[in-house]
Amino acid sequence: MQLFANLLVLVSALHLALASPEIIPAAGLVVRQTTTTTTTTQADPCRDYSMTANMSTIGTNITYRAAFLKKSPVGTIPNSRMLNAAMLKLPKLTADVQLNAQCGNLTTVAITEAANNFTKGIVAQFTTEGLPVGIRNGPVILFIVGIISILCSAVWVFAE
Ligand SMILES: *[C@@H]1O[C@H](CO)[C@@H](O)[C@H](O)[C@H]1NC(C)=O
Ligand SMILES: *[C@@H]1O[C@H](CO)[C@@H](O)[C@H](O)[C@H]1NC(C)=O
Ligand SMILES: *[C@@H]1O[C@H](CO)[C@@H](O)[C@H](O)[C@H]1NC(C)=O
Ligand SMILES: *[C@@H]1O[C@H](CO)[C@@H](O)[C@H](O)[C@H]1NC(C)=O
Repeated sequence: MQLFANLLVLVSALHLALASPEIIPAAGLVVRQTTTTTTTTQADPCRDYSMTANMSTIGTNITYRAAFLKKSPVGTIPNSRMLNAAMLKLPKLTADVQLNAQCGNLTTVAITEAANNFTKGIVAQFTTEGLPVGIRNGPVILFIVGIISILCSAVWVFAE
């Protein structure tokens, strides 16, 4: 039973060690995202076009979209809706000759800059840094849970 107790302590420590790297960057992201959301409510047509183009570009590309949904703390469903809304809204803005004359073709800007950002490890306001941790976390946890199950059953077998 002593062994079992020691294992439990070890397992909790491992779990904490794995969980902590994700919690800290997420807290920073919340602050940054709140600031961008408030600025979009301003009625500047170029800013709106720019935001729509940037978000639509992310929504259209599977790679960007996956990275964005993974990094954003808002949640996958509201974000998917937001990206989809931008994708629906953009074609009208892209085709608006007057808006494009006033602001420049921000659709083109968004497409080139999203690619530039991505090569630098940035999707929208998020870095893709830390993503491998998130992706690796699942299988690692599964593996650890598997080990725990085996160890626990072994303890019971030996205890009997
Ligand atoms: C959209 O992306 C462009 C290019 O990176 C950037 O200059 C612009 O500020 C972005 N627009 C918004 C609303 O974040
Ligand atoms: C802006 O650029 C896109 C392609 O990046 C093009 O399809 C669209 O026609 C352009 N809009 C205008 C008004 O020139
Ligand atoms: C998505 O973006 C990546 C990186 O810029 C690019 O290699 C890929 O071709 C894009 N995919 C689509 C479907 O446009
Ligand atoms: C590119 O990265 C900058 C800085 O993080 C960001 O402000 C901008 O919105 C990004 N542009 C696009 C098109 O995602």
